[in-house]
Amino acid sequence: MSIIVTDSKVFKLDTKDTSYIFAVGEGGFLCHYYYGAYISDAEIAEFARYERHGAVCPKPCITTDYYFSTDVNRMEYSVNGTGDFRISALQIKDAGGCASTDIRYLSHRVYTGKPQIPGMPATYATEEEADTLEIDAIDTHTGALVTLFYTVFKNSSAMTRHVRVKNTSDKAFNIERIYSTCVDFYAQDLELLHLWGNWGKERNIERNTLNHGIQTIASKRGCSSHNHNPFVALVSDDATEYSGDAYGFNLVYTGNFSAEIERDSYETTRLIMGIESTDFSWLLAPGEEFYAPEVVMVYSNEGLGKMSRTYHKLYRNNLCRGPWKLKKRPILINNWEATYFKFDEEKLYSIAEEAHKLGIEMLVMDDGWFGGRDSDKSSLGDWFVNEEKLKGGLGALVKKVNDLGMKFGIWFEPEMINPVSELFEKHPDWAIQIPGRELTLSRNQCVLDITRPEVRDYLFDCIKTIMDSANIEYIKWDFNRPLTEACSALLPPERQKEYFHRYVLSLYELLDRITTAYPQILIEGCASGGGRFDPAWLYYAPQFWTSDDTDAIERIDIQYGTSVCYPISTMGAHVSACPNHQTRRESPFKTRGDVAMFGTFGYELDITKLTDEEKELVKVQCESYHKYFDVIHNGDMYRLVSPFEKKRDQAAWMCVNADQSEAVVFYAVIKTSLYLPHVVRLRGLDATKKYVDVESGSVYSGDTLMNAGINMARKFKDYETVIIHLKEVK
Ligand code: DGJ
Repeated sequence: MSIIVTDSKVFKLDTKDTSYIFAVGEGGFLCHYYYGAYISDAEIAEFARYERHGAVCPKPCITTDYYFSTDVNRMEYSVNGTGDFRISALQIKDAGGCASTDIRYLSHRVYTGKPQIPGMPATYATEEEADTLEIDAIDTHTGALVTLFYTVFKNSSAMTRHVRVKNTSDKAFNIERIYSTCVDFYAQDLELLHLWGNWGKERNIERNTLNHGIQTIASKRGCSSHNHNPFVALVSDDATEYSGDAYGFNLVYTGNFSAEIERDSYETTRLIMGIESTDFSWLLAPGEEFYAPEVVMVYSNEGLGKMSRTYHKLYRNNLCRGPWKLKKRPILINNWEATYFKFDEEKLYSIAEEAHKLGIEMLVMDDGWFGGRDSDKSSLGDWFVNEEKLKGGLGALVKKVNDLGMKFGIWFEPEMINPVSELFEKHPDWAIQIPGRELTLSRNQCVLDITRPEVRDYLFDCIKTIMDSANIEYIKWDFNRPLTEACSALLPPERQKEYFHRYVLSLYELLDRITTAYPQILIEGCASGGGRFDPAWLYYAPQFWTSDDTDAIERIDIQYGTSVCYPISTMGAHVSACPNHQTRRESPFKTRGDVAMFGTFGYELDITKLTDEEKELVKVQCESYHKYFDVIHNGDMYRLVSPFEKKRDQAAWMCVNADQSEAVVFYAVIKTSLYLPHVVRLRGLDATKKYVDVESGSVYSGDTLMNAGINMARKFKDYETVIIHLKEVK
């Protein structure tokens, strides 16, 4: 068992190489003691100590020690209004409208395995893979029974936390804040690393010193967002890719989130992460329960690289589901950048025909196939086939594509409605709105109120009708605007702040229905590119369209930043045309293929217009995808040269398979110069093995490659890339 509980109620939770310790302290308060590298069980009793306070800190009446204060101690799950003045994870407003909270230990349970969270996505584990601790704590004033869940993975350095609140009283109360985790660090040298961005520029790595006070990374857009990813790491100031402390926190949630970090006057750093609280409140009636989503926490004392690899492995094996989770995904060609809205079945078929000859395995028909949709101004919600565009219907096109030997995939944006649509004419009230207030449009569209069961039924039926009409094996599920005027006609005034969370729960329910009805389906999530690239989506869809920016050079940054938390196998990446449609940049066809190779590989261009030389390259790229698949998608990723650091003139990363017998290295020159150093030190190989560079035939030992490095040994132009395939020489 990887969870130890002493008689004096010290709890020690161990993963493969981390320990997490807290205890029941003075008066039943839950006090936090340690999170970091594994420590032995021998000193466990030593941890039942607490910090002492200065004279002016409030002291709970119940405690016997004059010097105990919740304002100074590192608390396991912080609450508001009773003497801990730092950021609070939980705030409950009682029936009288007073908001103060005070939770004390009641009981605990330890068991093997991991519970799922009702109605919400989460990592999963077998009885052998994980152990779980539940702590019950009670706020006697409100009757809020708070259960803290902790699961530790035995073969990983990951642990998860989530929280449940049950109303055990006979009066309703409001949960005003409920964060899923709270960790108090006794350290002064931490920095905050997070992934900020924008449309077409997702997940840039930013790292800041933590000043005294509070910093918040959040989304209030109703989705996890392009702007901030629900991932943050606290890292020691000396942390690099390969050394130092890195604590990662990733919320399994696709709605409003917040990670708040406070460095206080006692040099404690508190991190809380969960549902964003300013647009949240939940009325909990007697007997009801509320679950907060899961946070996945990973600690590494070998820098950011190991933290990322831990997330990658966990998400591939214990978050993604379904038959595709580890399987090679079909190489796809998507018609969006080839045709935008202007296509018919002949054009699509001509793309499929040419693509098939070159080794591409699936045609994805993007936006524009339904209703009267010829631009982004109309028809979202009208999910019936436009037979003027697809003459003979969808079934005929899909059959022709299947007859070529290719799969067929289709685009939906289920959660949306255009005011110009048949659906809006029939059900104007189905758009999220505040009666009497003007609708805020974005991309000419509104969001459907999927919290209404009849809306979910309508969407399920529409998708089912299309799915059952043809052999569709893939869905791209898009979402192209944030939520505004978040308000529900079904909720009473005192429950309107529940709306954002209810929206997310309704989305989960719809996704669940679809994946249950079509268990073989491969779903690719999308939100104007990577606006919902989060672990909640990966539970339903093992790949996500990483960004609408398909420029290979921009994609180097975007895919590098995304890899801080998410595995390559989840990142949709396509070769597109030049000049690139987003940036107008020209880059070599080879470069575009090399970058997309480190993602779920595909094309997004009019393949009928390629030159013969480019078509030959497509064939080579498709073969390479199959050849490298196992190493790139199931191997360990090592980031080697960051495009975010120094002069931003180069980038490199590599993947190594499990037995270190094969590696694939990616190197790019973004901005060349006369004296650009081309030596890159590799990582993750076996120092004692010899490796051959498959293309050149040169043989190197693992220690040379990792210590002296590999000399790319030629002059690169701007935007040139190389992929080096290394294989063990026996
Ligand atoms: C946004 C997506 O990110 C694009 O790939 C494309 O599907 C468009 N929507 C279609 O409207």
